[in-house]
Amino acid sequence: MPILQSFGPTSTPAIGVPEDIEAVAMRALPWTEAAERDTAPLYARVRAVIPRPEWEFFAPYVQAINALKHERNAVILAHNYQTPEIYHCVADVVGDSLQLAREAAKTRAAVIVQCGVHFMAETSKILNPDKTVLIPDRRAGCSLAQSITGEDVRLLRERFPGVPVVSYVNTSADVKAESDICCTSSNAVAVVESLGADTVIFLPDEYLAKYVAANTRVKLIAWKGHCEVHERFTGEELRQLRENDPSVEIIAHPECPPDVIAEADFTGSTASMIDWVRGRRPQRVVMVTECSMADNVQAELPEVEFVRPCNLCPHMKRITLPKILDSLIDLKEEVVVDPKIATRARRAVERMVELKS
Ligand code: 13P
Ligand code: SF4
Repeated sequence: MPILQSFGPTSTPAIGVPEDIEAVAMRALPWTEAAERDTAPLYARVRAVIPRPEWEFFAPYVQAINALKHERNAVILAHNYQTPEIYHCVADVVGDSLQLAREAAKTRAAVIVQCGVHFMAETSKILNPDKTVLIPDRRAGCSLAQSITGEDVRLLRERFPGVPVVSYVNTSADVKAESDICCTSSNAVAVVESLGADTVIFLPDEYLAKYVAANTRVKLIAWKGHCEVHERFTGEELRQLRENDPSVEIIAHPECPPDVIAEADFTGSTASMIDWVRGRRPQRVVMVTECSMADNVQAELPEVEFVRPCNLCPHMKRITLPKILDSLIDLKEEVVVDPKIATRARRAVERMVELKS
């Protein structure tokens, strides 16, 4: 079913991503024999993707973070785009946006350290209003979350009275508060169909909307927001790759443009892409998404060859081990959501989390 209409972003405000942050000195931790010894089993997990000199820098931070998170009764939730030393060596839970939201809803820890971007930390806070939720660098934003405001959603509702609104979790709390239900890339079709409506406003990712529209009979009204990482891939570069090596397998995230999806052997959320590679063990594969995903799976499956292209998400890359340690020591940057907005946003997020997939 083609999309009925797409509306454009009217503004790109910096949502929860203040630019006026001063640079702070990083705590420097020296390499020690104890750090090397304590972290040896963790290095064994990542040695295929982290060279030894880099590990000598990481090891003292890994040791300190793993000790401190127990003292703080903290849980570290890390998105699949985090770098291998975070994903494999300090995270308690890793996953795609839906898995992280589900874990955030279940956790008994007093403190949540979100290693991902700001909307993910906000989602954890919305689900856990009484817990301390920290993000190691609050400038970690997202071009999709920045493409739309709560006011934009209110205007769309006025224009299309009675049409339900589905918002991708890659949005601010303000936008979630104006929505009927949230979705992620792993449940978007199911969420749209769960409403039983013949038309749905689907925000803010235009390419994800096109992907959903191709897989449902529900009519969609979309927004022209894009992921700055996935919109850069082209169908042409993938066709070139296949021409050079017809045996290569291509898997893509649904935030990619339609001509990229058309070239892919499989399309799914970051977690489904990882599961696909784990299950299928291709000889050579292109993961058309953020670069750290391939590094994380490569650490686990050294026999698979991961072929470029991939693109870096500059927001995800703001999260580093020294910043995670600072975050745990000083309990910063604490994520705050206005309680009135959080209450309304929670309904939309919980409705998604409770949906049986
Ligand atoms: P996933 O929910 O598939 O992990 O996607 C989140 C994201 O931001 C992808 O760019
Ligand atoms: Fe946002 Fe794209 Fe980065 Fe995901 S990869 S956090 S959608 S900018």
